Amino acid sequence: MAAKILVVDDDQSFRFLLEEALKKEGYDVSSAVSGEQALELYQPDKFDLITLDVKMPGIDGFEVLSRIKQISPQQQIVIITAYGAQKIAIEAVKKGAYDYFTKPFDIDELRLIISRSLECSRLNRENRQLKDELHKRYDFDEIIGNSGKMREVFEIMKKVVNSEVTVLIQGESGTGKELAARAIHFNSARKSNPFVKINCAAIPDGLLESELFGHEKGAFTDASAKKIGRFEAANTGTIFLDEIGDMSLSTQAKVLRALQEKEFERVGSTQLIKVDVRIIAATNKDLFRGVKESEFREDLYYRINVVNLQLPALRQRREDIPLLFEYFMHKFNQEFNKAIKHISLEAMELLMKYSWPGNIRELENVLQRAIVLAEKDMLTKQDLPFYIQCLDNEIKIPTESVDFSKSLLDTVKDIVDDVEKQIIIKALKKTNWNRTEASRLLKISRKSLFNKMKRCNLLEEEE
Ligand SMILES: Nc1ncnc2c1ncn2[C@@H]1O[C@H](COP(=O)(O)OP(=O)(O)OP(=O)(O)O)[C@@H](O)[C@H]1O
Ligand SMILES: [Mg+2]
Repeated sequence: MAAKILVVDDDQSFRFLLEEALKKEGYDVSSAVSGEQALELYQPDKFDLITLDVKMPGIDGFEVLSRIKQISPQQQIVIITAYGAQKIAIEAVKKGAYDYFTKPFDIDELRLIISRSLECSRLNRENRQLKDELHKRYDFDEIIGNSGKMREVFEIMKKVVNSEVTVLIQGESGTGKELAARAIHFNSARKSNPFVKINCAAIPDGLLESELFGHEKGAFTDASAKKIGRFEAANTGTIFLDEIGDMSLSTQAKVLRALQEKEFERVGSTQLIKVDVRIIAATNKDLFRGVKESEFREDLYYRINVVNLQLPALRQRREDIPLLFEYFMHKFNQEFNKAIKHISLEAMELLMKYSWPGNIRELENVLQRAIVLAEKDMLTKQDLPFYIQCLDNEIKIPTESVDFSKSLLDTVKDIVDDVEKQIIIKALKKTNWNRTEASRLLKISRKSLFNKMKRCNLLEEEE
């Protein structure tokens, strides 16, 4: 299949020339006449190469470069500059462009740069595939991530699957602690034996002990029959002690003993029961702090924290968001019989910008909702929840459009007006377009807000 190239240049005659030259070489060429159009056409993995003019009105090549690189660091981009502007080109290469060539272009030079860049892109892809395969051998398929932080996580997981060592998984809510615990078990030698989970926070403390160790008939008022505990049920397999930071000190003492001796008694019995279980524990609490504050037993802490697997928050590995998007898109397309194919750059930028306090679980929920709601085959900003749509309101100082036909004073006034309008919009968005609340936020009267909105043409949009 011919390599796909996107040519971005506002100069029509040059664009034609370049398109023709590339078509002659057998490439599949598309083109964009501006930075704006390039960003609209752009989708991760759609083009093998993008040639990008730097100087364009509106969104220039630099901005296109940095926005695309943020979302797809592996995208190959070659910069085109006017002769004599090599400094700019070098700056672009520093920002992640593969190489540059100057106008008017030399066809041999162009051929060489393009074919080398495509070769490099192919090698990168192969490299990624190899890494993916390595990852698959351990079948951590459902754990998505390619960031440095996640690769460290996979490295530790690979080491612990083949041993019996106790693992303590820590991470904020929704970072995938349970997913990691299951992956460790189902890749270990115990994979055909039971995986038993117990959520220590969900069971009242009085019942936790009998849940963990079982009880004899009549051991307490509600114990109408003998019950096998989770430790016993997990024999020869793995027990996953979830939310272990929420256990009372007295239960902690009993768990410690079970871990150390690998034996315990059912509640209401004196008979010792021996088990062979592997332990994986998880918590979203800072257990070490718990130890210092005497809420968590120090000896138990050291007993379970043999290997510590720290799962990063999503905001610490934002570069994985496009990959996670792809994953959830396929998953929900299947689940809800939809055919979403891509996401607009604007919507992706919002996903990348948001702080994700609920981590992957929150991203999963947001995408599920968006995919169910989306009407076209592309997710757009409007499909995202309102609180994420509103992130896109950074205040920009419009200095690039400085118009030297005006006096300095007038130019500054224009800029101030523009910034004022942006701040007003920000306040209105924050208050859900409630003028009374917005005027309070801005510390101006409601009347004066109304006048400013009128001057900035903000009334028609709303009414
Ligand atoms: N790296 C990942 N790739 C794909 N899906 C993930 C990833 N991490 C988490 N998920 C998904 O996110 C959701 C939350 O994951 P999980 O229940 O394992 O988190 P948790 O850390 O145990 O959260 P909590 O602390 O709230 O119990 C699950 O649906 C899980 O499948
Ligand atoms: Mg969990």
